[in-house]
Amino acid sequence: MRVLVTGGAGYIGSVVTEELVAGGHEVVVYDDLSKGHRDAVIDEAAFVQGDLLDRDALFSTLRDNAIEAVVHMAARSLVGESVTEPAKYYETNVMGGLVLLDAMRAAGVGPIVFSSTAAVYGAPEKQPIEETAPVAPTNPYGETKLAFERALRWYDEAYGVRYVSLRYFNAAGATPRSGERHDPETHLIPLVLKVALGEIGEVTVFGDDYPTKDGTCVRDYIHVSDLARAHVLSLEMLARGGKSAIYNLGCGGDGYTVREVIDVAREVTGKEIPVKMGPRRAGDPAMLVASSARIASELGFRPAQQDLREIVASAWRWLSARRAQEASVVAA
Ligand code: UFG
Repeated sequence: MRVLVTGGAGYIGSVVTEELVAGGHEVVVYDDLSKGHRDAVIDEAAFVQGDLLDRDALFSTLRDNAIEAVVHMAARSLVGESVTEPAKYYETNVMGGLVLLDAMRAAGVGPIVFSSTAAVYGAPEKQPIEETAPVAPTNPYGETKLAFERALRWYDEAYGVRYVSLRYFNAAGATPRSGERHDPETHLIPLVLKVALGEIGEVTVFGDDYPTKDGTCVRDYIHVSDLARAHVLSLEMLARGGKSAIYNLGCGGDGYTVREVIDVAREVTGKEIPVKMGPRRAGDPAMLVASSARIASELGFRPAQQDLREIVASAWRWLSARRAQEASVVAA
């Protein structure tokens, strides 16, 4: 299929692009490079630098490349920023999404796979979380992702735009060529690895008084390659004429506490990784663990890398290789 990947220069988007190309699809990446990196896009994919709010550019990209389906990943995704600057989140995640849907309808393009988030659930008590759990976002990031998910439902009913909405839990790890590089970095695993490299002095643990086994927050980490594979399966299901669906994307199980993640990183890197205890971070739910039963039974999807050691090790290999490469460029 000929697929447009919005946000395809980002951390997850670049791996989804790799996975689609490996699956025999032709990919056009559409990204404004506000957060993504041009060099994260593999050479086998075409690249268009464009704004999600630019309907004409989207329309001509869809039409000129004879696009048949869209993976929509372009978004703002920092929970903290969304609380202080909700307007940006409504603009990109809701308005931008609607502009894309409008351009798709005008160009006669469908279906669509959408990057949603566990943040739509808020802080549910019942774990693991099933897709039928009540949605109750606690921040504008989750709220705007949910708003677009709901728009998809009504666009499907009225216009027949079939979709899969993938509610990501915690994406982590790296492929040999693509890893996490955000600026500023706020995610636990890359931060801990930067401490291991000596780039940051210590990692602050945000709260140790949660009702969890060691007092720190529990999350469900899923390898970015597994996450990417789920996009390809979703797209192929839709291409076969399958019905719209919402799926959680996590590994399930018990999840891992923040302390466990740090211990695994110590084991993987062989470094000490100094830790400082800090207060809770606003808006952090104590526990977010997916029930991944629905996507397993409907699409036959199971994460291949469920061991956090392997996930962290892949991120460590990528980061170490990148630093070595940067050092050789400086030396030369
Ligand atoms: N954490 C720390 N110290 C840090 C950074 C994080 O203790 O320096 C903790 C957080 O409090 C949290 C856990 O590590 O308990 C994981 O935090 P991340 O920032 O790596 O990830 P989040 O779980 O906060 O966020 C992820 C996605 C969001 C999504 C959210 C759903 O990155 O996009 O899950 O709640 F919205």
